[in-house]
Amino acid sequence: MKTETQDLTELDNFLADRWLSGLWKLDRHERTPDPQTKVVPHLWKWDDVYDSLRQARDRIGIEKGRTERRTIRLVNPGMRHIEMTSHTMLLACQMIQPGEVAPAHRHTMAAIRFIVQGQGAYTVVNGEKLMMAEGDLILTPQWTWHDHGHEGREPMVWLDGLDVPLIQSLQVISYEPYSEEKQATHASGQEASLFGMTRPVRSGDGAAPTPLHYRWKDTYRSLQALADTPADPYDGVALDYVNPLTGGSTLPTLACRAQMLRPGERTRAHRHNSTSIYHAFRGSGATVINGETLEWSKGDTFIVPLWSWHEHANRSAEDEAILFSMHDAPVLEAFGLHRQESLDESGMGM
Ligand SMILES: [Fe+2]
Ligand SMILES: [Fe+2]
Repeated sequence: MKTETQDLTELDNFLADRWLSGLWKLDRHERTPDPQTKVVPHLWKWDDVYDSLRQARDRIGIEKGRTERRTIRLVNPGMRHIEMTSHTMLLACQMIQPGEVAPAHRHTMAAIRFIVQGQGAYTVVNGEKLMMAEGDLILTPQWTWHDHGHEGREPMVWLDGLDVPLIQSLQVISYEPYSEEKQATHASGQEASLFGMTRPVRSGDGAAPTPLHYRWKDTYRSLQALADTPADPYDGVALDYVNPLTGGSTLPTLACRAQMLRPGERTRAHRHNSTSIYHAFRGSGATVINGETLEWSKGDTFIVPLWSWHEHANRSAEDEAILFSMHDAPVLEAFGLHRQESLDESGMGM
């Protein structure tokens, strides 16, 4: 006489032999109202990242066909198996030395660059040469040609933010090297941000992706203007980098934000099912994530996993703190999946 379990095991094996599977095998207890993630809160200290870049600089040259980028990935302890920063995003740090060229290529992953240190380096996106300055944000939309070079005197460092794990999970990674090491550049005139509220009239090339360059001096001026008005309760004085051509998010898969925490400012807690990676560009403070406090200062990077309660505080009573951040919210919004709540709404009280 067979037991019920033996009978069910026999059925499961019978199905498995035919590449079929019964839904009764799923553990109902794994399904909860709260989304689950393997991404964990983590803080990467600037000294560790910068020291690692310097060690890489001393041992690794940039050459076409070998290592085309001197880039170090920030690996989330929960994403160790794929060496990514979250399940949707990769944040890396890149260093380029005077005279070096990071050869041209293109890929289906979209990238943002946020310039952290140095001057004199440039990136060429689809033939448009964009000079980098600290605090600038430069976009490399998916499938645009890009190479980097350095005409300055000191090492230059920036953050590379990409949607690699998302594009990987969709299995649509394409990569192509350019025929030459560097792209030929053309006279400025493509760069959308040069034109403010106006657009050049052009025929025929309307579909070409537009390189976008958000200069720190403009961003900071906007932050300062906004700092005189009431701040967002959860994000402080915060600006989204919008795509001026669409009015939408920075890139289809990534949103970028600059936010200021005024001296002594502390935000209220909220949570959302998008993931956020923060870089402390100026100042110092603390972010509490599900009760765990991450103390950050200039140059540090940290991640807030999805659905984690979080609040930020500027620890200085005199100096402002500025956070740059990257989010995967546009992906969730595109599919009607984005959720957020605050402590007051959830009835948990403040
Ligand atoms: Fe690239
Ligand atoms: Fe948030």
